[in-house]
Amino acid sequence: MKRFEIGKSGIEASEVALGCMRIGGMEPAALGNLIQTSYDLGIDFYDHADIYGGGSCEEVFAASIARLGLDRSKLILQSKCGIRKGCYDFSKEHILDSTNRILERLKTDYLDILLLHRPDALIEPDEVAEAFATLKASGKVRHFGVSNFTPNQIELLQASLPDPLCANQLQLSITNTGPIDQGIAANTKIDNSIDRDGGVLDYCRLKKITIQAWSPFQFGFFDGVFIDNPKFPELNKAMDELGEKYGITKTGLAIAWIQRHPAKIQSVLGTTNVDRVTQVADAMKIELSRQDWYAIYLAAGNKLP
Ligand SMILES: NC(=O)c1ccc[n+]([C@@H]2O[C@H](COP(=O)([O-])OP(=O)(O)OC[C@H]3O[C@@H](n4cnc5c(N)ncnc54)[C@H](OP(=O)(O)O)[C@@H]3O)[C@@H](O)[C@H]2O)c1
Repeated sequence: MKRFEIGKSGIEASEVALGCMRIGGMEPAALGNLIQTSYDLGIDFYDHADIYGGGSCEEVFAASIARLGLDRSKLILQSKCGIRKGCYDFSKEHILDSTNRILERLKTDYLDILLLHRPDALIEPDEVAEAFATLKASGKVRHFGVSNFTPNQIELLQASLPDPLCANQLQLSITNTGPIDQGIAANTKIDNSIDRDGGVLDYCRLKKITIQAWSPFQFGFFDGVFIDNPKFPELNKAMDELGEKYGITKTGLAIAWIQRHPAKIQSVLGTTNVDRVTQVADAMKIELSRQDWYAIYLAAGNKLP
């Protein structure tokens, strides 16, 4: 499992992270097996949010870590705040309050990284900066990042902060390639050239902000998994062939495709299935050729101008 620095934070982490959005209802033994196996495979980065399972995902995670006896200092824990029922809230009060409750649920003194979950239209950057400064000074949060932000939104917030934001978590999979499409189709009239995110991929590369790919196996907005889905016959055929060529499964290939991008994207796996995590770890040993990376992009229904 390759490792790289998250932004300019100094944190070295596995290129694959375990997303904890779906662990809330897992049996303790199965969850323990998932966490221990992923850890043994070299995955030491765990992605949470205050809203996952209404907070239960952080709670069961903490209980599992305690049962397993894993050393907190060896784990990189990230969580998010800013989404409330019916609104987004980046007020200082909400950020501080949410973080305190995250720490209580995770049973830890600090978060390695706190992300703002989705852009709040009513953001006051100086107020966010005050919240971040308070959290940093108290040792409760070491680094900060964002999620689903455009470059301009990052610039706006960054202008009030002393330290660089280290991560931007974005929806990205073989079938959700928005940040990649725009660059490939630039200067054409085809739909892929439409600027939907302000060129966030190149921006993050330039600024050394790590992109974290959420929902790497899903199509649409939580519409389902594209692997073995009859809605994607060409893609699955191409993935079957390439999986065989590289000796990996389609589940592994889905992540190998993201990791082949030179932006050093960190894939956030949402699977709760130990075999799938193992298949992904196996796939991290190969590197797709340029031709095969493009073959998958095209098989997903995209065109090269
Ligand atoms: N920042 C944001 O706005 C945002 C939004 C959503 C998610 N996230 C983060 O991203 C993580 C991943 O999101 P996600 O869970 O939606 O994405 P995902 O990894 O694309 O999907 C995982 C889901 O797909 C199922 N699945 C079925 N077949 C699969 C296969 N062959 N390979 C892999 N999975 C298969 C899994 O079931 P099994 O468990 O049975 O494998 C699981 O329910 C979350 O845990 C969270 O940390 C962030």
